[in-house]
Amino acid sequence: MWPLASHHSFKINNYASDVFNVTSVADARSVANLDNYLILGEGTNTLFIDNYDGVIVKSCITGISCEEKESGWHIRVGAQENWHDFVVWTLTKNMCGLENLVLIPGSVGAAPVQNIGAYGVEVSQYIQSVEAVHIATGESHTIANTECEFSYRDSVFKTNPRSWLITHVNFYIPKAWQPNLSYPALADLKTHASISARKIADAVTAIRSSKLPDPNKIPNAGSFFKNPVVSAEQYQQLIRDFPHLIAFEVGGDYKLAAGWLIEQLGLKGTCCGDCCVHDKQALVLVNQGRATGGDVLALCRLIQQRVEQTFGVMLEPEVRMVGRSGLIDDVTNYQGL
Ligand code: EPU
Repeated sequence: MWPLASHHSFKINNYASDVFNVTSVADARSVANLDNYLILGEGTNTLFIDNYDGVIVKSCITGISCEEKESGWHIRVGAQENWHDFVVWTLTKNMCGLENLVLIPGSVGAAPVQNIGAYGVEVSQYIQSVEAVHIATGESHTIANTECEFSYRDSVFKTNPRSWLITHVNFYIPKAWQPNLSYPALADLKTHASISARKIADAVTAIRSSKLPDPNKIPNAGSFFKNPVVSAEQYQQLIRDFPHLIAFEVGGDYKLAAGWLIEQLGLKGTCCGDCCVHDKQALVLVNQGRATGGDVLALCRLIQQRVEQTFGVMLEPEVRMVGRSGLIDDVTNYQGL
């Protein structure tokens, strides 16, 4: 039995059957021999609601190499490098572009899986390719950005969670830098005479620290739900009924701020057992100390039901939830606990 509490940031005290550390591409090839396995980075977006009857596969490949070209930098990063440390490394070398993504918890290898994003930037904008072992065949592939099927918090790696073991991520950071201040919370910086990547990183750090609980102090897994996307028609109906609704247009549809929906229902601070809606950011659920998988499921379902009743929108978890036999596709009907 392998204790999971210190390997996922929500820190529920559950166990996996075993762990398998991948330190080389050759190791990655033997994953196919395992009966049941789950690939885990730093566990900051994965929540084990039960003991897991399988082996945790962890990529332990580290290292950063960089090649400077006339127009930009090609950087190859081992999957187990920490994401935030990598962003800081680029900034100290005056490579600008990833500054809006500071302080996102997790590993570099996990970044493409759910196409991490924050404050107007998604990591897919800077990924050139992903090196991964195809588990079924043991073959190494370099998957070009266009083949990664990136979209909002999604990729080919997330839709096929047992197919690929990511070993390295290749980034391209162009020297021609454009600050991204499109996110409303960063708009104030537009008035600054000399804007720099460092200033943006500092502003994002300040905003994140004021709203998002530090997983090292209050266990959590970041945004628990995705921001739901609705049709223009449904949006027009909603904005009639809720004139203050916060939404952003995306290709003709509308992405709703799920945190706003949850807050309107007065659910900030609501708890099921020791699992609570964070009081500063309603999209984040926190573990007050002894939360169980049952507490998490109960609060998740309560929020889903209330939001659906009032707004007619079904919230989908953004966090990967894991039960006894693996990833849970349908939280609403999960019978495991
Ligand atoms: N809002 C509320 N009440 C709340 C939370 C949010 O009214 O309790 C409103 C805010 O005032 C704002 C809007 O909703 O007008 C959006 O809120 P925020 O800027 O905090 O971002 P978010 O949509 O709640 C997303 C990401 C975060 C990312 C931020 C910033 C998802 C699921 N979450 O949250 O990512 O940091 O934008 O870009 O897309 C994560 O994935 O773990 C994560 C933290």
